[in-house]
Amino acid sequence: MSDSTTGTAPTFAVTQNPAPASAAERAHRMDSQPFGTVFTDHLAKATWTAEQGWHDHRIEPFGDLVLHPGATVLHYGQQVFEGLKAYRWADGSIHLFRPEANAARLATSAHRMALAPLPEADFMASVEALLTVDEQWVPSADETSLYLRPMLIGTEPCLGVRPSRTVEYVLLASPVGAYFPNGVKPVSIWVAQGYHRAGNGGTGQAKTAGNYAASLLPQQQATDHGCDQVLFLDAARDTYVEELGGMNVFAVRRDGTIWTPRVTGTILEGVTRSSVIELLRAEGREVVERDISITELRDGIADGAIQEAFACGTAAVVTPIARLVSPDHDVVVGDGGPGTVTMALRQRLTDIQYGRADDVMGWMRRVG
Ligand code: COI
Repeated sequence: MSDSTTGTAPTFAVTQNPAPASAAERAHRMDSQPFGTVFTDHLAKATWTAEQGWHDHRIEPFGDLVLHPGATVLHYGQQVFEGLKAYRWADGSIHLFRPEANAARLATSAHRMALAPLPEADFMASVEALLTVDEQWVPSADETSLYLRPMLIGTEPCLGVRPSRTVEYVLLASPVGAYFPNGVKPVSIWVAQGYHRAGNGGTGQAKTAGNYAASLLPQQQATDHGCDQVLFLDAARDTYVEELGGMNVFAVRRDGTIWTPRVTGTILEGVTRSSVIELLRAEGREVVERDISITELRDGIADGAIQEAFACGTAAVVTPIARLVSPDHDVVVGDGGPGTVTMALRQRLTDIQYGRADDVMGWMRRVG
């Protein structure tokens, strides 16, 4: 049993994968695969029960999960997750970007979904333990990283609707490049019609599977209309911009200010979102967190008051937006190319993440 309650980091007992990928196989699998489709040789896991708390912290060979068909995660979606990245610096060392923020958000999301929160010390120890055994899976090519996906799932077999009394923590890792297949090319955005991501008092602020499941059909409609991502408006009035299918959104205005939807209970408070706000403010830019109506966004793009727009998230980093599309409008942002503010911001952020610039914000954590 761990000392989770005291905040002491638990030890992850390691069972090595007896048949890890060879260096050649690893190199082959790490080369230009679609985002999140290749996985490393191991998983980190821990188990929670009401009686024992968090215990059995371990590293196992990567493999399928064994779940009872009645597990609450399978029936009622009792699940939360995170996304963070490990970066290989030019000197070979490995660094995480603000992992404490992900640990904290996992706990907040867990609270919302009535799951036992994983202590930050356990979260950090799991990441470090997995990176120790799978260190060679952290890629070194430009703009690549090892994407880490921690999750908590309710595992108790129970068809009654109530919180699971057993929880499994699983951390998997996937070497990745750009999230969008076209790399950093500007993306087009479809305004969701008749679908919303979250309502007041719902689960919008939690990083939980159901929010993403609900985005799949509108995302499919975005794709059907030739767009890369879906943009959700608020459920109460179908008026205010909230977020994209899996990332936050910003608009750069001609007057120099930068607008982003304010965080209400229905928007995910992105770690990249808050980092971007801090970076922009540190440069002296005015970032305004406010309600932004779809009319303001559309008209601002059309008349040039909004000169750039971008999406941001751990997976998306900072990705320029080129077009905003709905059944009654199709407007091009600026000249349709990547904006200078957007690309300078992306550079600024990734320079810190890849150790090419001083970590003036104190965000990076060395783990290898
Ligand atoms: C992330 O950015 O880490 C996410 O979880 C979003 C998902 C679209 C990959």
